[in-house]
Amino acid sequence: MPDTITITDNRTGKQYELPIQDGAIKAMDLRKIKVAEDDFGLMTYDPAYQNTAACKSAITYIDGDKGVLLYRGYPIEQLAEGSTYLETAYLIMFGELPSASQLDAWHREITLHTMLHENIKQFMEGFNYDAHPMGVFLSTVGALSTFYPDAKQIFNQELRRLQMVRLVAKTPTIAGYAFRHLTGRFYVRPDNELSFTGNFLNMLFRMTEVKYKVNPVLERALDVLFILHADHEQNCSTSAMRGIGSSHVDPYSALAGAAAALYGPLHGGANEAVLKMLLEIGSIANVPAFIKRVKGGEGRLMGFGHRVYKSYDPRAKIIKQTADKVFEQTGRNPLLEIALELERIALQDEYFISRKLYPNVDFYSGLIYQAMGFPVEMFPVLFAIPRTAGWIAQWEEMLVDPEQKIARPRQIYTGAAPRDYVAMERRGKSPVTSSAGS
Ligand code: ACO
Repeated sequence: MPDTITITDNRTGKQYELPIQDGAIKAMDLRKIKVAEDDFGLMTYDPAYQNTAACKSAITYIDGDKGVLLYRGYPIEQLAEGSTYLETAYLIMFGELPSASQLDAWHREITLHTMLHENIKQFMEGFNYDAHPMGVFLSTVGALSTFYPDAKQIFNQELRRLQMVRLVAKTPTIAGYAFRHLTGRFYVRPDNELSFTGNFLNMLFRMTEVKYKVNPVLERALDVLFILHADHEQNCSTSAMRGIGSSHVDPYSALAGAAAALYGPLHGGANEAVLKMLLEIGSIANVPAFIKRVKGGEGRLMGFGHRVYKSYDPRAKIIKQTADKVFEQTGRNPLLEIALELERIALQDEYFISRKLYPNVDFYSGLIYQAMGFPVEMFPVLFAIPRTAGWIAQWEEMLVDPEQKIARPRQIYTGAAPRDYVAMERRGKSPVTSSAGS
C-alpha cells in the first residue's frame, strides 16, 4: 500500500494522489488541485500555524501528550540532573555532547567573548532610568549588529560560528548591565574566573566586595533553569528567529526579533504575568473566586496551558523540585502557598481537565527567580539568555537547509473589490465606505 492520500475534488470529479512523508503532506502538492488553468491552486488555511510543520529539525523533540522533551535525543530530566547549561548549549548548537577537551575549549571560547564594547555601555546608559530590562536587552542585542559588520557574512561558516559564540557569551553581560541600569547601580564587568551562571550572578548582584562570592546552590539552580529553557522547537520566538533569519539578515538583528517575540505575556513574559497574578490574588482564601473568574472568561490562569503539552510540562516538574532547594537557602516564597493551592484546585476542576490545561514552565520559575532576588521585570530576560542557544542553533539549521527559502505565508484576501480612487472634493462629509463583497 503506497503512503499516499487520495483527494477527490467534488467540483470537478478529479482525483489527486498526494504522497505522505513523515506524517505530513506537502502544502505545495495541493497547488495542483485547480478548477481552472489560471486558478492559483488549493491552499491550506492555518492561522497561528496550529497544524503546519514549517521545517524539518533535528534539534528538539517534544511529545506533548506524554510530557516528553528531548534535546538532540537526550531527555531533559537527565540533562537537568547531569549536565551544565554551557554543555547543553554545545549539544544543542553542535549536535553532540562534547568530549572533555572540547568542553574545556568551549568554556574558554565563551569566557573570552563575555566583554562588551565600551560604546555599548554608553548606548545602554541612554535608556530611561526605569526602562524595562527586556526592552533594553532586545534593543542592545540588535545594536550589536552594528559592532560586528562581519556578521552579515552568514554563509561563512567560521564567521557564523564566531557570532554564535559571541551571542551565547555576551547576552548575560547585556542582561547584567540592563539589570544594573534598572537598579541604578554601576555596571559590573564579567569575572572570567567564575562559571557561566556564577559570573552572571556576579554581574547582577556584586556590590562593594572585591570578589563576588557565589552561592553554589543558587548557581546550580540557575544553571538548571537555563538548561530547561535552552530550546523548545518551533515556538513563537524561534519561529520569529527563523522567519527573520530567512531574509538572510545578520543573527543579532534576527535574535533581537526573537527576543521581542519572547517578551509577550503569552510566551516568555508569562512568568512575569504569573507573579503579578499571584500578587493580585493575595491570599489562599481568594483562590476559588479567582478560578471562578477565569472559568467565566475573565482572564487566564497564567502559567497554565500550552500549545503543545497536553499533560504536565516536564520542565515544570523539574522546576518544582529546584524550587525546594532554592527555598532552603532563601526562605520560602510566601506566594508559593497560593501557587500550590491554584494548582491543586485547577488540576481537579472539570474546566481545566477537559481542556488539558496543566502548569507550564512559567508557573513556578517566577517564584524561584523572585526568591533569588530578581525583580519581575528580569524574568523574560532570564528566559532569553539560555534560549539564545536554541535560537541560534535553529537559525543555523534553517540557513543550511536546502529546502528553506525566505518565509512568506499566503493570505486569504477579505478586503474591498477593485475600485477607483475618489478625489477629496468628491468624497463628501461621510467617510468613504468599503465595497468589499460587492
Ligand atoms: N487559563 C484559562 N483558560 C485557558 C488557559 C489558561 N491559562 N489557556 C487556555 N485556556 C482555554 C481557552 O480559553 C480555550 O477555551 P475554549 O475552548 O473554551 O475557548 C482553551 O483553553 C484552548 O485555549 P487556546 O487559547 O486555544 O490554546 P492555545 O494553544 O492557543 O494557547 C497558551 C496556548 C497561549 C499557552 C494558553 O494556554 C495561555 O494563554 N496560557 C497562559 C499564558 C502562559 O502561561 N503562557 C506561557 C506558555 S509556555 C511558554 O511560552 C514558555
